[in-house]
Amino acid sequence: MAGKLKAFILLLTLPTLSFTNSFPVQYPAVFNFGDSNSETGEFVAGRGVLIGLPYGRAYNFGKLAGRISDGRLIVDFLMDAMGLPFLNPYLNAIGAPSFKNGCNFAAAGCTVLPATGSSICPYSLRIQVAQFLRFKALVLELQSESKELDRHLPSEDYFGKGLYMFDIGQNDLGGDFDSMSSHQVLDMIQTILTEFKAGVEVLYEEGARNFWVHNMRAVGCMAQTIFTFGTDKSRFDELGCLISHNQAAKLFNQQLHELWRKLKSQYSDANVTYTDIFTIHLDLIANHTRYGFKQPIMACCGYGAPPLNYDSRISCGQTQVLDGRSVTAEACKDGAEYVSWDGTHLTDAANQYISSEILTRKHFDPLFSDKTPFLLKSE
Ligand SMILES: *[C@@H]1O[C@H](CO)[C@@H](O)[C@H](O)[C@H]1NC(C)=O
Ligand SMILES: *[C@@H]1O[C@H](CO)[C@@H](O)[C@H](O)[C@H]1NC(C)=O
Repeated sequence: MAGKLKAFILLLTLPTLSFTNSFPVQYPAVFNFGDSNSETGEFVAGRGVLIGLPYGRAYNFGKLAGRISDGRLIVDFLMDAMGLPFLNPYLNAIGAPSFKNGCNFAAAGCTVLPATGSSICPYSLRIQVAQFLRFKALVLELQSESKELDRHLPSEDYFGKGLYMFDIGQNDLGGDFDSMSSHQVLDMIQTILTEFKAGVEVLYEEGARNFWVHNMRAVGCMAQTIFTFGTDKSRFDELGCLISHNQAAKLFNQQLHELWRKLKSQYSDANVTYTDIFTIHLDLIANHTRYGFKQPIMACCGYGAPPLNYDSRISCGQTQVLDGRSVTAEACKDGAEYVSWDGTHLTDAANQYISSEILTRKHFDPLFSDKTPFLLKSE
């Protein structure tokens, strides 16, 4: 009964349940750079990890999930909307993966800034770009030798016609923003975006002409952030989100948007698209009931009491001894009622909602206040 009602609500709010061909432009291939928000198995392939249930359960991914969600990610829904298959991760070596329609370099924990010894992910943006350069060089060489692999590899012209997507930065922008001055936060953002720009420039030099970036989500509304930094009630807004973290995300997004605008004017022969995920995500949290969700912040898969069901000592699916007893961070019954899968990443249902909003085209390169100066250091 509840399931039927839910489906009915979804039908009401998502008029396009099938996204096929609803993408603004048709691209033959997609090359994606990012972190766990768009990883489709890169990190798990690199680290030799199997991600199984409850991950991927909303889409029957089984052991092939490779995604930190109960199902599909935004990048999956967008690929679907382009009529293209899901992206294979660059490092995947099993089962003759096809890279015909692109390749995914995104991996969990990755940063824009170079990795350090303590980084979870060694493949910072510069390395992901280097991986792409190697990918392209090898593909062109193989294609020139024989057409035998044509079915698995992009054609030469796909590199110029393809879409270069970015969803990265969330792992760079860390810290307790309440104890930082806005100047310090801006400094941090400038450093990140200078490196971001360098990566995009390398790709442009290589012939990339279609760029697409997702801005930062409302990180102040994530159970993980709230668990870690939410010690004081005065730090929350009326939605229960951490004010300083959402402000930092907004500042990052303003600067990212300006960077993208700058690239747009610099690259007159390229298409440069900025996509405002933050606004969609925050609206989803604020108005979740209207979009068919019951839990805007609480993690579906986690451990701990409401309102967060999150504990940084144990992650989704794990069993561990905590405070003297063995506990498991289990998944909730119906992930479609939750925005958050594990306190950091979104559910299949939330990703589907956000993707459907992206495809309304209302959130591209939105009107931008020229009062915000572009603060990237000039080279
Ligand atoms: C930019 O996008 C348009 C479609 O909106 C396409 O016709 C054009 O070829 C693209 N430009 C480049 C440089 O790929
Ligand atoms: C929630 O929905 C209302 C009505 O559409 C809208 O005005 C408001 O901006 C939304 N809240 C957020 C945070 O987007």
